[in-house]
Amino acid sequence: MNMLSKRATWLVSALAFTSGAAWAEFPDRPITLVVPFAAGGPSDKIARDLAEALRKPLAQTVLVDNTAGAGGTIGSARVARANPDGYTLLVHHIGMATAPSLYKKLPFKTPDDFEFLGLVNEAPSTLIGRPTLAASSFAELRTWISENDGKINLANAGVGSASHLCALMLQSAMKSTMTAVPYKGTAPAMNDLMGGQVDLMCEQATNAVPQIEGKKVKVYAVTSARRLALPALAQVPTLSESGLNGFDVQVWHGVYAPRGTPPAVLARLNAALQTALREPDLIKRQEALGLRIVTDERLTPAGHRQFVEQEIERWSKVIQKSGVTAE
Ligand code: MLT
Repeated sequence: MNMLSKRATWLVSALAFTSGAAWAEFPDRPITLVVPFAAGGPSDKIARDLAEALRKPLAQTVLVDNTAGAGGTIGSARVARANPDGYTLLVHHIGMATAPSLYKKLPFKTPDDFEFLGLVNEAPSTLIGRPTLAASSFAELRTWISENDGKINLANAGVGSASHLCALMLQSAMKSTMTAVPYKGTAPAMNDLMGGQVDLMCEQATNAVPQIEGKKVKVYAVTSARRLALPALAQVPTLSESGLNGFDVQVWHGVYAPRGTPPAVLARLNAALQTALREPDLIKRQEALGLRIVTDERLTPAGHRQFVEQEIERWSKVIQKSGVTAE
């Protein structure tokens, strides 16, 4: 190919790229949803549910890949550094809003290093205990906690995880000190709770409901402001109505791409996400676990970004008050 035709080819492809025509075929290969926690936990379950519902609107394979560790920040860093081509996305929760305040050194900046594809759902959370605990109500648990202050093991999914934040708020509200036992996700933590190796855990309904219904763990309260709208669990009180007035830890999940992903690709992905979240089977599966699918402006990139920025602000105050930081 001579110099002139090489230059012409370069010019045409550059124009196509900027005009978005180069992305007209997007996606022409599988897309990966990175989950920053271990397989089997709530984040993983939500991502796999989403991957299934995205396959049709994207007409493409959508894979889920777990990159766990450090409260979700290792997986988040992987996506922040990924090629901004729309093929590597992050499914993450409230940790997106808390990591900036909890971690002194983060290998990424939120919101600067991400594009916001939409908020997916809001997940109520529960306070659950090992099946061998004698307490059968929150009132009895409260007595047990005060009698065993400093001797209780409370599982979480690492500093900055939803279970960790809930544990911080619980200890501050109950003026108690518990030993944090971190895992790479609340799936492995749940196994140890059911086995009695740890005493308590805050866990999202996504993962807790099946174990509560199977009587493999004891449930004491719902940590979000609303009770679980599930027949089997409607009688479980919230922590707020159990004496920790105003207690409200609600977990939310969103989808993110690396900063610099082309607008045409972001629009294609957001449209597919909106279609996926209207999928009746997905709604049924998520609502059966107490989750609430987002249908408001937070499902748009601008609304999602604004929401996360507000949450960063809100949680920075809570975390500052708790005095907790991570390395
Ligand atoms: C959390 O506590 O942050 C999540 O439950 C972690 C997970 O999805 O495993």
